[in-house]
Amino acid sequence: MSLSSQSSIRILIGLFLSTCFLSAQAAVSASTYVGRGTSSDPNDNITVSINVPNDNSDSLFFHFTAPAGQAWAAFGLGGQMKGTLMFVTYASQDGNNVTVSPRIATGHVMPQHTDDVQVTVLGGSGIIDGTFVVNAKCSKCRSWNGGKIDVSSTKQAMIWAAASAGELNTNDLNARINQHQGYNFFDLNLKDATGVGGVPSVNSSSNTVVGGGPVDGDGHFRGATGFHGFLMVAAFLIVFPGGLLLLRVFEKVWLHWGVQSLGLLMTILGVGVGIAISKKNKISPNLTAPHQILGFVVVALGISAWIVGLIGHSIYRRTKQPAKIMKGHRVLGPLTLGLGLANCIAGFRFASNTRATIVFAIAAVLMLIFVGTVLFFNRRQKARKAAMNTPAAVNFREGQASAPSYSTEAPLPLYGQGGIPLQSYANNQAPPVYR
Ligand SMILES: *[C@@H]1O[C@H](CO)[C@@H](O)[C@H](O)[C@H]1NC(C)=O
Ligand SMILES: *[C@@H]1O[C@H](CO)[C@@H](O)[C@H](O)[C@H]1NC(C)=O
Ligand SMILES: *[C@@H]1O[C@H](CO)[C@@H](O)[C@H](O)[C@H]1NC(C)=O
Repeated sequence: MSLSSQSSIRILIGLFLSTCFLSAQAAVSASTYVGRGTSSDPNDNITVSINVPNDNSDSLFFHFTAPAGQAWAAFGLGGQMKGTLMFVTYASQDGNNVTVSPRIATGHVMPQHTDDVQVTVLGGSGIIDGTFVVNAKCSKCRSWNGGKIDVSSTKQAMIWAAASAGELNTNDLNARINQHQGYNFFDLNLKDATGVGGVPSVNSSSNTVVGGGPVDGDGHFRGATGFHGFLMVAAFLIVFPGGLLLLRVFEKVWLHWGVQSLGLLMTILGVGVGIAISKKNKISPNLTAPHQILGFVVVALGISAWIVGLIGHSIYRRTKQPAKIMKGHRVLGPLTLGLGLANCIAGFRFASNTRATIVFAIAAVLMLIFVGTVLFFNRRQKARKAAMNTPAAVNFREGQASAPSYSTEAPLPLYGQGGIPLQSYANNQAPPVYR
């Protein structure tokens, strides 16, 4: 055999093998999602393609791409953060390849790396043209501690997320990652993705879902979160304390009622917006996070305070005596305010916004100091000018005591020894006019 015919046979065998290889590649069943990432570059796509080997193993193959200008990007097998197995991808230490860390989140917190799941990064992976490209095989990843996927599902819920711009170059699978900037949900048809095992090649995938931009990060739903925060902060930092001062300093009971009613409406609206955000963004959609539960408690307390105040005032108007029930109002009101302020802090922490947490905490302390100072001096002044108190306001302040009926001869009791003296208006006298 001549040398040239030997080499042409080699070439033929090579061609044959590569054809087999290519057709085997093309034969890999897969389901693919392509959506727009969080960066402003319209070419920054997020691609997730899954192959489910039909070998009854517990493995999956996947192909994942995302813009590498962001510190990290991830996709997850599940429709919400909690219990979802996520593949968090960032640059390797040398900056040329990818580190793929399988992680599980217990809630809306940083997902933790798990050793139970093994990811093998395969050829073709790397940081290529500013894109994280991951071709990988994952073992023990059809079910994991806290969740599983249904490989027979035609609509397996999936999620992706990406961080804000930044760099994270490490091979450490436990590396700390900052909060995601944007994310979105999608479904994959895993039934149709089942077949011979192998890394899916995206352009041969017959099942491609095209998604839109991210839910968050594009300002899409951030407005609602801002509105929720604005309503709650304004209510607990300004409106409710303002309503308290209107009563104590200016003794305007009807203004107190009006302002606290406004604050209550703001918190009820804020809770509604908060629930909508949780459901829509699937952030603790069962509403069982401490911030959410405390929120419901605060609104329930606020409504109780409002009702008790109204009843107490109507009793006063009927009997012209401070109502005992006002004692409850005096507990419920400040309790609502205090827990509401605490829950604002819990809310900023829930949103992982450290700066806002600190700024709000400082503002809340300043507000409490201001209100406390005003009330302190007001109390001293009131003690001197006791006769100026409107009885209706005294009802709010001193509801615990039954009204002493002072005879005109008896000396007025000092403040702190029986309450602020009231004008005598009991015996058939006309009740004092409200101011
Ligand atoms: C990004 O995805 C969109 C929608 O599927 C597609 O039209 C576009 O060609 C993709 N761009 C790149 C660079 O892959
Ligand atoms: C990244 O790592 C994988 C697995 O070791 C390897 O196959 C691939 O060639 C690497 N990519 C680059 C760009 O070095
Ligand atoms: C798939 O994409 C690669 C490069 O992205 C290209 O070279 C190849 O021709 C494509 N295959 C098909 C079947 O379109």
